[in-house]
Amino acid sequence: MTTIPGMSSHCCLWIALIFLSASVATAHNLDHVDIPKLRMSRPEFLRDPASTAQASVSKDFATFFYNQTLDHFNYRPESYTAFNQRYVVNSKYWGGAESGAPIFAFLGAEAPIDGDIGNAGFLTDNAPQFRALLVYIEHRFYGESIPYGMTFAKALGDANNRGYFSSAQALADYAEILTYLKQKLKAEHSPIIVFGGSYGGMLASWFRLKYPHVALGALASSAPILYFDDIVPQDAYFSVVAKSFLESSSSCHQTIRQSWEEIDRAASEPHGLTKLTKTFKTCSPLKSSSELKKYLRTLYAQVVQYNDPSAQPLKLMCDAINGASPRNGLLRKIFAGLVAINGNLTCYVNSPTSATLAQTLLGWSWQTCSEMVIPMGITRNTMFPPKPFNLNSFSNACKRVFRVAPRPHWITTYFGGHDIKLILWRFASNIIFSNGLQDPYSSGGVLKNISSTIVAIHTAKGSHTLDILGAKKSDPDWLVEQRKTEVEIMKMWLATYYVDLRTFKN
Ligand SMILES: *[C@@H]1O[C@H](CO)[C@@H](O)[C@H](O)[C@H]1NC(C)=O
Ligand SMILES: *[C@@H]1O[C@H](CO)[C@@H](O)[C@H](O)[C@H]1NC(C)=O
Ligand SMILES: *[C@@H]1O[C@H](CO)[C@@H](O)[C@H](O)[C@H]1NC(C)=O
Repeated sequence: MTTIPGMSSHCCLWIALIFLSASVATAHNLDHVDIPKLRMSRPEFLRDPASTAQASVSKDFATFFYNQTLDHFNYRPESYTAFNQRYVVNSKYWGGAESGAPIFAFLGAEAPIDGDIGNAGFLTDNAPQFRALLVYIEHRFYGESIPYGMTFAKALGDANNRGYFSSAQALADYAEILTYLKQKLKAEHSPIIVFGGSYGGMLASWFRLKYPHVALGALASSAPILYFDDIVPQDAYFSVVAKSFLESSSSCHQTIRQSWEEIDRAASEPHGLTKLTKTFKTCSPLKSSSELKKYLRTLYAQVVQYNDPSAQPLKLMCDAINGASPRNGLLRKIFAGLVAINGNLTCYVNSPTSATLAQTLLGWSWQTCSEMVIPMGITRNTMFPPKPFNLNSFSNACKRVFRVAPRPHWITTYFGGHDIKLILWRFASNIIFSNGLQDPYSSGGVLKNISSTIVAIHTAKGSHTLDILGAKKSDPDWLVEQRKTEVEIMKMWLATYYVDLRTFKN
């Protein structure tokens, strides 16, 4: 979801240049779009160097392109335009169509699919015991799946074209490809289980609700499907961040809490921004104190969201903040925390954004400015100063950049979310909502069992989409246990399906 804690000013400037080519004053247009990243992949600086994610992307994976329909929901001439949509298949473990062996489909989210193949180790780890075919499908408009074969910037810059960039179109893409694949493989009795993490987890759960005839079940990891409308308080996310810091170290929490005023005070002194630029070794001169504060807010959010048990970035950061000498001042302590997380770099805070990350930031900006309106803000004075979500200013910012106003109630109108237990317990089945309660996004997740087949599997210490990553030797027991439970539940779905198949086939 977006970005926001991660959105650098470069990104916004670029957006402004692409869409508005008008005044540089518009560079801060999307400052209101200030929502933490909703992705599985760990920020670069939190990657576990021991991770073998990349190594698992091998020759077992074959890439294909599907001739995808641009517009599934209209019958206008241009709706029939097609584009190449990328998907990747691994058939190494598949038991085959004759035995009705299952298909695991990973639903791509707001990034190129390549990264997810290595990250979503849960699929490769478990494919052998399920004898499953693995399919990974890229989300339209990301990576190599861009309509009209355009560049990303061009496709997103075209107001008509970006209208086809929505979750409903993406789900329809997945349905079309999976249906086609089953036909091609003559695997009509191979049940499909869909997987996704974060925004992709939302897609997985929604896919099961909208396309029960295509997917037998869904594993939705860290999917905050309730962070819409007013279902959860707008404070929920950052309350978890603040609480995690407090529990990790109250002096660290206290230092951060005091730092915001200190940053403003330092900035207001003569040559204050120049001095702050030096203190934080920023890559380009700071334009305002809010640029720095926004970066830090994002960093603290990420440190908690991706506080994996192996890397433990929260402890790393707080140890550095607490350990820095108080003689050099409070901001030096903050800077020490920043260095502990990022490592020794030549500069910090506003480094240039990579092309892949920029695609995610821009694409997700559009998604949040159209339908994925996550009303996240800070209303109370916690470790963070208040920064309430304001729908009006958010809307205005979106209109300035994309010329359309967001539809803040569309997601719950189309997919539901209110009274989720009341609605789903009779209507739906076969969804696992998994979460780690340390992840601030878990505050928008489904955390209670809804029925015997719509289950919430969470861990007290888990972080964002942790369960869907590959297993590691260093994994704590509770994580091993969580994944085991998920596997057992999916086995139950399949066993029931095969019984049903025998019952109803003839
Ligand atoms: C792709 O689909 C479009 C629209 O249905 C069709 O006109 C076109 O011929 C197809 N292209 C290929 C390569 O099959
Ligand atoms: C950064 O460099 C300092 C001094 O060379 C060293 O003591 C410290 O361990 C380094 N920190 C990291 C995170 O690499
Ligand atoms: C939901 O039910 C499953 C068993 O199907 C159990 O493992 C899990 O702990 C339950 N979740 C909650 C939140 O009670």
